[in-house]
Amino acid sequence: MPTDVVVVGAGPAGLTLANLLQRNGISCVVLEARDRSYVEERQRAGVLDHYGGRIFEQAGLADQVLAGAPLQTYLEFRYEGEPRLLDVAGLSGGRGGSIVPQQLLVRRLLTTFLDGGGDLRFNARDVELHALETSPRVTYGDVSLDCSYVAGCDGFHGVSRRSIPEDELTTYTFDHGIGWYTMLADAPPPKYPLMAMGRHGFAAQFPRGPFASRFYLQYKPGEEDPRTWPDEEAWDKLRLRLGDPALKGGAITDREIVEMRSFVVEPMAYGKLFLAGDAAHIITPMGAKGMNLAIADAHVLAGALTSAVRGDDAALRAYSDVCLRRTWDYQDFSRWFTEMVHDIDGDPFRRKLARARFERLFTNHPAAVAFADMMAGIELVR
Ligand code: APR
Repeated sequence: MPTDVVVVGAGPAGLTLANLLQRNGISCVVLEARDRSYVEERQRAGVLDHYGGRIFEQAGLADQVLAGAPLQTYLEFRYEGEPRLLDVAGLSGGRGGSIVPQQLLVRRLLTTFLDGGGDLRFNARDVELHALETSPRVTYGDVSLDCSYVAGCDGFHGVSRRSIPEDELTTYTFDHGIGWYTMLADAPPPKYPLMAMGRHGFAAQFPRGPFASRFYLQYKPGEEDPRTWPDEEAWDKLRLRLGDPALKGGAITDREIVEMRSFVVEPMAYGKLFLAGDAAHIITPMGAKGMNLAIADAHVLAGALTSAVRGDDAALRAYSDVCLRRTWDYQDFSRWFTEMVHDIDGDPFRRKLARARFERLFTNHPAAVAFADMMAGIELVR
């Protein structure tokens, strides 16, 4: 029996899409290359924005997905150690996000889909996509699935985007020239997500449960290698940049390096294949839009595929344009935020611009509201 949709990848994009299709009565099979524990334990994003939360509420999935998630209220900024609180939820008229670690969201979406009788196949290695222009067929191992549509939700390194002829796509990339050294540590979490900026560079501390924090330190890729920093040096840098000489070090349970790059591919569709989430775009972490963009794509795609299966493919034809508009809005916001909080190349002119941008958030109400509006996420009713 052919299925309506084969979804490749069971990350936030694929699982959101699969759940929304399931609720709409559209048949789908989800193929995931890795095993269940890998998918459930991968730590990535941590904030579901207000718009993302609304998507699950409107689908009747609020209880399954959002239960018990604390609301994000304030952000704490420190400029050269001086603290300032920004009431992001208040400034957006109560549209604060929820603190939902990606692995929790993924676990909940997985359980909901499987409890609803969903067909999700882990360890589906060597997925290949065929005849995308006409009657798509997806193969892995010795299994072959005929379908009407394929959703490429398999992240940046997946097979879906690579299955599109290169000359059909335009790729946009940008290297922000900024690196982050991140450490997960047994250290009491801050009351609010904390971001510090100033001439010594960006640092941050985000809560990770009741007893742990994830710390971030800006470094210059190509010039510095934080992996050579002894832990005490990293703690000293954090104390200096966070303006908190009393900050206690704790056992570090994970260390990572992130180099900030952006990536967008256009269009997000080819024949009967539709890309969603990281398969189509990568965004810097500032503004926490990566996971939310994946969920927003999946939402638009679920509606468009549902209409198409029922005989009207107008929304599917508009899918790429609609999602790219939001993608570029979020890319712009993320870059704007990145430039505000990082010390880029120690350039005095850029420091002054970043300071002006930051001060405006606390002295100009419309500017603060615009910031909070982007944090809440945009619904695209243009
Ligand atoms: N076949 C099947 N599954 C694949 C393949 C493949 N060839 N390649 C990758 N996958 C799976 C991965 O194992 C992963 O589970 O696709 C899934 C893609 O998930 P994500 O990378 O999380 O991408 P997405 O769902 O778009 O979510 C974007 O995740 O990368 C973070 O910060 C980013 O929060 C953002 C979110």
